[in-house]
Amino acid sequence: MGSYYNPVKIKINKIDVIEDVLNTINPQLRNIVLLHRGGDFSQSEAGCSLYQCLEDVEVKQLEVNISNPDVEDLFHYYKQIENFDYQCIVGIGGGSVLDLSKSLAALKGMEIDSSSTLRSIIKQKLYIENQNFVPWIGIPTTSGTGSEVTCWATIWDRANGVKMSVDWEKIYAHTAIIDPTLTATLPKGLTASTALDALCHATEAYWSKSSNEISRIYSLEAIKKIVNNFEKVFNQPNDLTLRNEMALGSLYAGLAFSNTRTTACHSISYPLTLELGMVHGIAASITLAKVMEINFDSIIENEKLLQAFGVSSCSEIQELIEHFHQLSGFSSSLKDYEANEEIIETIAANAFTKGRMDNNPVALTKEDVTQILLSIY
Ligand SMILES: [Fe+2]
Repeated sequence: MGSYYNPVKIKINKIDVIEDVLNTINPQLRNIVLLHRGGDFSQSEAGCSLYQCLEDVEVKQLEVNISNPDVEDLFHYYKQIENFDYQCIVGIGGGSVLDLSKSLAALKGMEIDSSSTLRSIIKQKLYIENQNFVPWIGIPTTSGTGSEVTCWATIWDRANGVKMSVDWEKIYAHTAIIDPTLTATLPKGLTASTALDALCHATEAYWSKSSNEISRIYSLEAIKKIVNNFEKVFNQPNDLTLRNEMALGSLYAGLAFSNTRTTACHSISYPLTLELGMVHGIAASITLAKVMEINFDSIIENEKLLQAFGVSSCSEIQELIEHFHQLSGFSSSLKDYEANEEIIETIAANAFTKGRMDNNPVALTKEDVTQILLSIY
């Protein structure tokens, strides 16, 4: 039983396939907004190919040199393009770039005079009334986010200490271009943290209340690819075959959780990031095995999940994740992120994001979350 839906066209190809994609969207396309990481992007091979493909259109570039975009950041980028009549957005980068691209696609043409207006628009989901939204193309340069195949974007509201979402079924990307060569220069730490994020997407999708026969297949394949290649790609970062496997692992994970969303680990990760500044993939993976232990008896075909990880128990998964953390220079203990009892209480109290925590197969209480956090302190 169950249903599966994902409308994103996926091109596993070189970046210059974008020319055909833009033609499919609209052969008369005039104005495009291009979001990228900045720095040396324009001199990079990917940048040069992309600029060549976009030669015939007017391009407004936005350099995104921040991570975990806040509502203030989104407003800042929105103001830069509000008077530019763009018909399409192209985002090339990691999760932050793709989430901003998606959000700006949804907000096109809306009247937004301040960041507090924008905050209200996001909170009240007023963008779903917007008829002027535009298509966007997602080109991930990390193997982890899955944002190129999901219909939501994370926008933080640090002033109020919460995570918000722009979440609308009309803002799936028109096309995702998966070009694994773009990830070949990704630094080791980012390779690891984004892979761990994808591993959590796949695993949480597997046990999510909304999982189904199709999403579970994507989950298992994603887990196998990520686990089997994690250490190899870490040691041979320039090996394109390995990068390809990791890109597919991340894509499959994205396809799995695009239909199920995430669960307790992601829900707990948001206050871990807000309170302790933890990198997203580490914040999500640090509780993965502990939550799995609690969920285990409620997981459909739980043996298949262990097999995909190549282990025979949840405690072995804990060891595996700790090994991945150690390899990539991250600690698996909260005390190393300057947590203390008081902060753990705050994190536990703020770990209940709607649509995430209540998507966990076992209902967790604040006390359960505190216990999980203390067990990795
Ligand atoms: Fe994530």
